[in-house]
Amino acid sequence: MPEFVLTTRTTTYAMAVDDAGLLRTVHWGGRIDDVSDLIPLPMWDLSTNDMYADIAAEEYPVHGRFRYKEQCLAVTFADGTREMRPVVTGSTELDDDDGRHLVLHLEDSEFGVTIDLHYVALHDLDLIERWAVIGNTGPEPFTIEAAASAQFHVPFQDLTFRNMHGMWAAELQEFSQQVSYGKIVVESRKGVSNHNHNPSFILDDGADETSGQVWFGALKYPGNFKAVVEQSQYGGTAVQIGINDYDFALRLVPGQSLRTPAVVAGYSDSGLGTMSHRMHAYGRDLMRPALRDVLYNSWEATSFDVTTANQTRLAQLAQRIGAELFVVDDGWFGRRGAEADGLGDWWVNRDKFPDGLTPLIDEVQQLGMRFGIWVEPEMVNPRADLYRDHPDWIHRDPVREPDTARDQYVLNLALPAVQEFVVEMLDDLLSTNDISYVKWDANRPMSQVGVDRSVWLAHARALIDVVARIKDRHPDVMIEACASGGGRIDLGTLSVFDDFWTSDNTDALDRLTIQRSYSLLYPIKAMRAWVTDSPNFLTQRSIPLKFRFHSAMMGTLGIGADLSHFSDEDLETSTQLVAQYKDVRETIQNGDFHRLSNPSPNDYRLFQYSRPEQSVLFAFLPSSRIGRRGTRARLRGLDPDARYRFYANWAWQQKSGAWLMHHGIDLWLMGDYASEIITVDRIGQP
Ligand code: DGJ
Repeated sequence: MPEFVLTTRTTTYAMAVDDAGLLRTVHWGGRIDDVSDLIPLPMWDLSTNDMYADIAAEEYPVHGRFRYKEQCLAVTFADGTREMRPVVTGSTELDDDDGRHLVLHLEDSEFGVTIDLHYVALHDLDLIERWAVIGNTGPEPFTIEAAASAQFHVPFQDLTFRNMHGMWAAELQEFSQQVSYGKIVVESRKGVSNHNHNPSFILDDGADETSGQVWFGALKYPGNFKAVVEQSQYGGTAVQIGINDYDFALRLVPGQSLRTPAVVAGYSDSGLGTMSHRMHAYGRDLMRPALRDVLYNSWEATSFDVTTANQTRLAQLAQRIGAELFVVDDGWFGRRGAEADGLGDWWVNRDKFPDGLTPLIDEVQQLGMRFGIWVEPEMVNPRADLYRDHPDWIHRDPVREPDTARDQYVLNLALPAVQEFVVEMLDDLLSTNDISYVKWDANRPMSQVGVDRSVWLAHARALIDVVARIKDRHPDVMIEACASGGGRIDLGTLSVFDDFWTSDNTDALDRLTIQRSYSLLYPIKAMRAWVTDSPNFLTQRSIPLKFRFHSAMMGTLGIGADLSHFSDEDLETSTQLVAQYKDVRETIQNGDFHRLSNPSPNDYRLFQYSRPEQSVLFAFLPSSRIGRRGTRARLRGLDPDARYRFYANWAWQQKSGAWLMHHGIDLWLMGDYASEIITVDRIGQP
């Protein structure tokens, strides 16, 4: 009889303590109800060079003994000892609204270390959550040098590993690579979860969107992370994820503990689509339920040159096309003329807004829209008053001159005084102005954090804490997470923020790639996408307005174009498309997302959103290459016996769910940047 089994709707996760006293993973995969079968295989040393402890699939391997693989926990005790010998001492079941919550207790009593491994079975979401709490119950302090959230074991090898790579304005580029003997590491060392990799893992054994086995997980943490995939010489694959141990050390005094960030993980035997549906549902549950507004953002139109006059003009045009929220981006505060000034001095710039923000806010509200504003609270310019008054508030080496990037330093949010400053500054801004939405930016990585190597962790934690405190005081304000675009796209950020600014790359074609990768793990409702000007400022590509709208309508729609240059015809087209978005946004923001297959040799991109009562199909053809070659969109997630109504190929049609899923809708798009949206409504109640 195994000792510890977690069951979700379709999966089982089982662990047991074996005869050697090691806590081993017994099963992570499809659901097994007869738990009496879940017993750990007997194991033994394979040779004097291949010892048992190195072969066993341990739940939370610690440093020491014959362990040579990635460890979850490494500490140095007061006397210099580094080897740990924890044993399982018991388990506890906690009451938890989210699902069954099991805690396994391990202890190294000789040195006073406790390790509590937490597991929550999210039954209906078909996911599990794991984290660890490391405690010091001894008489002396010790130093934690590595503390991962979890290690998982997949009993197969030569799997495919998938993640997202990228850089500024090219983040969220899905890549995959074959796992083989050795390790794959993805990580962040920049203080934010960053543009270069995502704090998540996806492993599959040849899965596609609808079939095959997938093991996946994402870390709920906005700071430095590390995920390591390691294929063992003894068979099997381990994956470990958690706080990055790069430049990390945390001293725990007696009585203190460290709770690692949670990792949300799951297993799908029906491919990547099922993985995305579960992770999207999890992400949406973290978020406030309200549908997200169609917003207008001023950044690409007016850059730093925001004034009452030009913002009022843009607000009037934004309202005309149907925007519900008007956001003034960078430039409204301090002596902000360009990048080098203003950050830290969060008073309204009177040259640009002589009577403060109130006249603009009043105008926006009279137009029937809500008002939003941009801030970058973790940063300061060297020329700002704030820096003059508090040079010791930034991350810096005690002796060396600190570096700037974008002419700015990073405030050390781990300092209580900085936390108070940020909370009070935003509280004051939100209390003295009727602001419904805040875009919280962060435009450079952390660096030169000084002597205390726990600061990376403390900054990330303080960020979550500070945002939560601001939301406590202003519960109706939505806060968008931006870090030079998509530098902070992770579940930790989503646990307090309400939206992600997905990327500074607003090119509608590039966005299709970025948004597709994003959709692997993160909810569409949080994926902000704007319609911007053509040619695009970044790619210099010219794309027709309809395609730009359709691409942005795939997420939470925003408009970032300079509407004062739009013709009446463009404004009219925009008005119609915003209205169309509002008609289907419930399905887009809350529905299941499907990355459909394209059977055509032409480069169609097909996506579908589904709720029981409605599906929305998006079809894009960036460039028609082979004459009039069409495609066929086979939908997913419909009721095969229900009837559906839709307009396609110049006619209203009614078809069964089975026809739509197994036969599909033929589509012929022509030319360059062709796109179409088809709404498929169920006839009758679901
Ligand atoms: C980077 C963001 O990603 C942009 O959208 C914009 O807000 C600028 N910063 C403003 O400085």
